[in-house]
Amino acid sequence: MVGELDKWMLMATARAPTNIAVIKYWGKRDETLILPINDSISFTIDPDHLSATTTVAVSPSFQEDRMWLNGKEISLSGGRYQNCLRELRNRAGDFEDKTRGMQIRKEDWKKLHFHIASYNNFPTAAGLASSAAGFACLVFSLAKLMNVNEEIGQLSAIARQGSGSACRSLFGGFVKWTMGNQANGSDSIAVQLVDETHWDELVIIVAVVSSRQKETSSTSGMRESVETSSLLQHRAQAIVPNRILQMEESIKNRDFSSFARLTCADSNQFHAVCLDTSPPIFYMNDTSHRIINIVEKWNQHEGIPQVAYTFDAGPNAVMIARNRKTATLLLQRLLFYFPPSPDHDLNSYVLGDKTILQEAG
Ligand code: DP6
Repeated sequence: MVGELDKWMLMATARAPTNIAVIKYWGKRDETLILPINDSISFTIDPDHLSATTTVAVSPSFQEDRMWLNGKEISLSGGRYQNCLRELRNRAGDFEDKTRGMQIRKEDWKKLHFHIASYNNFPTAAGLASSAAGFACLVFSLAKLMNVNEEIGQLSAIARQGSGSACRSLFGGFVKWTMGNQANGSDSIAVQLVDETHWDELVIIVAVVSSRQKETSSTSGMRESVETSSLLQHRAQAIVPNRILQMEESIKNRDFSSFARLTCADSNQFHAVCLDTSPPIFYMNDTSHRIINIVEKWNQHEGIPQVAYTFDAGPNAVMIARNRKTATLLLQRLLFYFPPSPDHDLNSYVLGDKTILQEAG
């Protein structure tokens, strides 16, 4: 390493959005490498709404790797952070800045330390915090800083080792995470199915049903499901493979009826697996169930689906409206059934070209 030692600092900044699965990942076959038991498909949210922005810096004056999340220092000692850092350091490239007479060789990255600052652009208290955007952003910004010369697919395999769902956040649009079959996980990567312009009339509405932190994390919930649920095995082997093919078709053809049917069915089956876990895991609450009823009745009444819903490991509803007109009607319905009141705790976000936050209670 040449240059004026101790006097320099290099920085890189990146932004990565979160993603919402329409065919869920639930269950690992390898806990350390984070290899899933089935393929999954998600869409990436517009980064203006739910995303993480991460700045990474490197300097010979840094004595250790450190990270701050929303301004608060967090520990990097966990295996997931260490695995991502190790994988990236192993793939780092040479860096040279001739004007400043600075050069960092591949091997030097192993001796240098990083300072990492990450922010989410949505309130953590909204219960929407997701490790997906965070790890995708961490891996992407460090890869830029260290001149890692890899395809995005290969970077997704590193982000996967931070949090499974993070691998899907490295692409926009609709993204498939292929489970792969290699023991070292080299083929368990994300691939973009279509970009964000392919189906741009869809509008996403997130109803924040509860801002409390979930009791059972995705990581421990899916571990318990793998250990105790027989429905999980059936789902992974007999249901998801076919559903993935159908979902790919409906996305390619922008077939909203088929898309909505598959999305709702997969969310409901994922929560059925949670109930089939021992002890059962309840991620949805009464408000979540009411939202499902409202959407199902409306879709039935119209004859063709207007809105799809999906719930991750928590009670918040993510709804996907066929188009802007339907999204407006959906918002009206939500406000009708959940008027601002201290009796419930429902906030609605519209994720389109503007964000509306309706806060109650
Ligand atoms: C219900 O990716 O958070 O959102 O890999 O253990 O970090 P780890 O789990 P995580 O699980 C996400 C589960 C899900 C479904 C999905 O996003 O596919």
